[in-house]
Amino acid sequence: MATDVTAQNIDTLFLEQRRYPPPPDFASQANAKPEIYNQSLEDFWAGEARNRISWYQPFDKVLEWEPPYAKWFIGGKLNVAYNCVDRHVEQGHGSKVAFHWEGEPENDTRTITFADLQADVVRFANVLKKMGVKRDTHVGIYMGMVPELPTAMLACARIGAPFTVVFGGFSADSLSGRMNDMECEFLITQDEGWRRGSRVPLKANCDAAMDKSPTVKQCLVVRRTGGDVAMKEGRDVWYHDLAQDASTDPGSCPCEEMDAESLLYLLYTSGTTAKPKGIVHTTAGYLTGVATTHHYIFDIKPDSVYWCAADIGWVTGHSYIVFGPLCNGTTGVMYEGTPDYPDKDRWWGIIERYKVDVLYTAPTAIRTHMKWGPEYAQKHDLSSLRLLGTVGEPINPEAWVWYRDNIGGGRTPVVDTWWQTETGMILITPLPGITTLKPGSATRPFPGVDPAVYDEAGNEVGPGQGGYLVLRKPWPAMLRGIYGDHERYVQTYWSKYKDVYFVGDGARIDEDGDFWLLGRVDDVMNVSAHRISTIEVESALVDHPKVAEAAVCGRSDPQTGQAIVAFVTLKGGDPGSPEMAKELRNHVGTRIGKIASPANIVFTPELPKTRSGKIMRRLLRDVAENRPLGDTTTLADATVVDEISRRAKEDAGKDEA
Ligand code: WTA
Repeated sequence: MATDVTAQNIDTLFLEQRRYPPPPDFASQANAKPEIYNQSLEDFWAGEARNRISWYQPFDKVLEWEPPYAKWFIGGKLNVAYNCVDRHVEQGHGSKVAFHWEGEPENDTRTITFADLQADVVRFANVLKKMGVKRDTHVGIYMGMVPELPTAMLACARIGAPFTVVFGGFSADSLSGRMNDMECEFLITQDEGWRRGSRVPLKANCDAAMDKSPTVKQCLVVRRTGGDVAMKEGRDVWYHDLAQDASTDPGSCPCEEMDAESLLYLLYTSGTTAKPKGIVHTTAGYLTGVATTHHYIFDIKPDSVYWCAADIGWVTGHSYIVFGPLCNGTTGVMYEGTPDYPDKDRWWGIIERYKVDVLYTAPTAIRTHMKWGPEYAQKHDLSSLRLLGTVGEPINPEAWVWYRDNIGGGRTPVVDTWWQTETGMILITPLPGITTLKPGSATRPFPGVDPAVYDEAGNEVGPGQGGYLVLRKPWPAMLRGIYGDHERYVQTYWSKYKDVYFVGDGARIDEDGDFWLLGRVDDVMNVSAHRISTIEVESALVDHPKVAEAAVCGRSDPQTGQAIVAFVTLKGGDPGSPEMAKELRNHVGTRIGKIASPANIVFTPELPKTRSGKIMRRLLRDVAENRPLGDTTTLADATVVDEISRRAKEDAGKDEA
C-alpha cells in the first residue's frame, strides 16, 4: 500500500448535479455583464480604480510585480475615510443611511446617515488627535459591534494611523500578543459588550492585556452598557468626556493624503498552532479591490439595503461591512448580538424591518438555522431579499439549497464567495447575473484573478482532479506580507511553488471550469491510499434529511492507513442511536462509495468551532486519536470538546463490548 500520501492528488467522489442558471429578470438588470471577463488584468483594475476612487493625485502605474510583493496604483494619493464618507456627503448624499444599527437589547437602534457618520468620524479623529495620535501611530481596537467600531477605524484612516482590530471575543492574552507584535501605542475599547443578554468585559480584558503590553500608553473607552469599569488615572480616558468639545466640522480635521501603498491595517490570523500572523493590507489596491468586488458580486444598487452578518473583527467585516460598502455609498445593516437573542428569529425580523435585499453570511450560520428549523424564518416577510451570499468554509450542497429555498424563497441566486484574510477581497465567486450556479461550487475566478490547481510537483491537474489551489497573478487587495516577518511570508505562501501563491486549500476544477473548494489541505484524509476531502464526506452526511451538521477527520488505522471518524449533529435535538449510525454509514456508502463511509460515528449536539465559525478538525483528530487536546485558545466554546471526548469514549467502549 502506498504510504507517500503527499504524492497523490485528492480524489473526487461526490458529484453534485443540480444547476441554477441566473433568472432572466435578474440577469437583465445585473451590474456585471458577460463582457466583464474580456478585459486585461491591468485595464480592468485601472478602470475600476479611476471610476470608483477619488484621488488627490492620480496613479501613474497600475502594477509593479516583483514576487512575492506587489504594488498597485503607484504614485496615487488618496484617503480611505474621504472615499468612504466625506465625498458621499459632498455629492449630496448626506441624508442617505450609512448604517441601520441594531443593538442586541430590543428596540435599541440607531440610524446613522452619511452626514452623521462624517460628523462621528471627524469628532472621533479630533479626540484621537487631542490624545496624541498622529499619522503612523499604531492603534489597537478591541470592541463589539457598536457604531463606534467602524467610526474608530475610519477615524484612524482619516489621520493615517494604521490599526489592528482584535475581535471582541478574544482573550486578554490574544489582545496583548497582537498589540505587542504591532507595537501599538494606543488602544480603543468600550466598557462592555452585549452578547446573548450577558456582558462581555471588554475594558477589563484591556486592563489585563495592557499589563503585558508596555508599548500601549493610552486607552480610550467608549461607553456602551454603562457598566462599572476601572479607569486608570493618566492612562484611561472616557470617549464622551473628550467628545463633548471636539469639533465635527470636517475642516477641523482634514483627511491625510496617503500614498497608495501606505499601511491601512493589520489583521491577525492564526495558523493552526503557531503565533498569529499580522497580515498587511495597504490603501489603494485594497480599497479598489473590496469596492469593486462588492459592487459586482452583490449587485449593489443605489437603494440597496445590504447586510453582511459577520463580525467586523474578521476580514469579512473589514472588507464587506466597512470599507467596500461605504466606499460604494451603500446603506448597510449592522447588528450587535447573536442570532438567537431573544429568540431564534432575530435575524429574520431584522431583514423584514429594514427590507434587506442582500444578505451575506457563513455556512456555519446557515447550518445553525437549519438545525433550528425553517419555522423561524417563516414567521417573517423575507420577500425583499434579491440575493444571498456565503463565505468562510466550503458550503454543503444541502445547506446551500436550504438557504436558497427557505431564506431566498426559492428565487434568489446564492453567491458562494471564496477568499481569505490574506487575499483581502473575494477571488473566486459567481457573478449573479451571469453564472449558472452549482450548490457547493464557488464557480469562477473574479475578472483578472488567475487560480489553478496543482499537483505536488507543480503541474496543473486535469479537469475533475483534486489538488492544491494556487494563485498565479497578483490582485489589488492581496496581502503585502506578514508584518515584521519576511521569512515567514516567503515560507508560508511562496515556497511550495516558485512565484506562485500557495493558498493552503484543496480544490478541483470540473469539466465546465468551475472551482470546488475542498477545505484546508491539512485536513485531507488518506483512506487505503485514497486522498479524501472532508467536505465531500460531510456533505454526504448533511444530505441525509435528519442531519444538521457534520464534521469528519481521519484517525490512524492499521488496515487502511486512516479511517474516517464522523461527528454528527442531528436536527431538532435528536440524540442519535446505533441504528441511525448504521443508516448514515449506508447513506454515505451509496452517496459516494464505501471507501468514504465513516468507521465511527459520534453524535454530538455541537461541533467545536473557532470564534469565526470554522469547524476545528484538528481538535476532532485529537479526540479521534484519543490524544490530549492541542491548542484550544481559538475555540468558541471549550465545553464542546469535553462533551465530544466523553461521547467518543463511550462510543469506543461500545465497540469493544
Ligand atoms: C475557507 C475568510 C470554501 C478557506 C474570508 C480559506 C472557503 C479560509 C470559502 C480563509 C468558500 C473561505 N468556500 N472555503 N466560499 N471562503 N473559505 O482567513 O479554507 O477567515 O482558506 O477568511 O476559509 O479564512 P479567513
